[in-house]
Amino acid sequence: MKIAVSGKGGVGKTTLAGVMARILAAQGKKVLAIDADPDSNLASAIGLPEEALAKLSPIASMTSLIEERTGAKKGSYGTMFKLNPKVDDLPDDLGVTHEGVKLLLLGCIPQGGGGCFCAENVLLRNLVRHLLVQREEALIIDMEAGLEHLGRGSTEHVDALVIVVEPGQRSIGTAKQIKKLGEDLKIKKIMIVGNKIGSDDDRRIVEENLSDFPILGHMSYNPKVLQADREGRSPYDIDDKIKEEVKGIITELEKRI
Ligand SMILES: Nc1ncnc2c1ncn2[C@@H]1O[C@H](COP(=O)(O)OP(=O)(O)O)[C@@H](O)[C@H]1O
Ligand SMILES: [Mg+2]
Repeated sequence: MKIAVSGKGGVGKTTLAGVMARILAAQGKKVLAIDADPDSNLASAIGLPEEALAKLSPIASMTSLIEERTGAKKGSYGTMFKLNPKVDDLPDDLGVTHEGVKLLLLGCIPQGGGGCFCAENVLLRNLVRHLLVQREEALIIDMEAGLEHLGRGSTEHVDALVIVVEPGQRSIGTAKQIKKLGEDLKIKKIMIVGNKIGSDDDRRIVEENLSDFPILGHMSYNPKVLQADREGRSPYDIDDKIKEEVKGIITELEKRI
């Protein structure tokens, strides 16, 4: 199962990705969790202890690795670099494992007018393609709304793009834009998970506004999830309700892919 999780900032992508990864690992599956959101903290949603967190650095900031693999020097404009750098050793060398989940931190994405250098993008996209095409593990990619890490030759290997929404027009609007991006990238299955659902009305807002999407399920508004975040722990480790909800979402997902 190779899943990309997307949605507007703050809707609960990282929460879902982290809990999903822990559940799949607890079911005995090999799991690779990819933090592809530069503003993300998947590590803490998986429950990585603080000492381990402090040692983590995103691949996009490993300048000498990027130079070594791509042949490009950072800051040198117009340099030639390899379009197909070696990446297959990176998941095992750079991944950090916690409770059966191997985590890789990608980091920076291209933003119009700044952000990543080309060589970094080439390396990251190659890596994501490698993970999608060649690795056997269950893969969960915690993305930002832009899907920037998904490039040519990789998206047909994404089993499903899961878009998280909360009951509100802004995240619903973003979901519709992401769906369009996903369709342009030819991702076959695009599905919704509702989050922060506090009432039947909330559920209805999601379902009625996104009636042309398959809906995998919902996660309730849950103070324990907030508490986990405050304490830097995984919701998986402190709350059974979200675990049960996400288990249901995984079951539904597995039926549909
Ligand atoms: N079901 C929920 N109930 C209450 N708070 C939630 C829920 N899901 C997520 N949150 C909180 O919302 C904030 C954003 O969640 P996060 O998973 O980091 O979103 P994203 O990755 O989409 O930016 C965090 O503080 C998180 O604890
Ligand atoms: Mg996030």
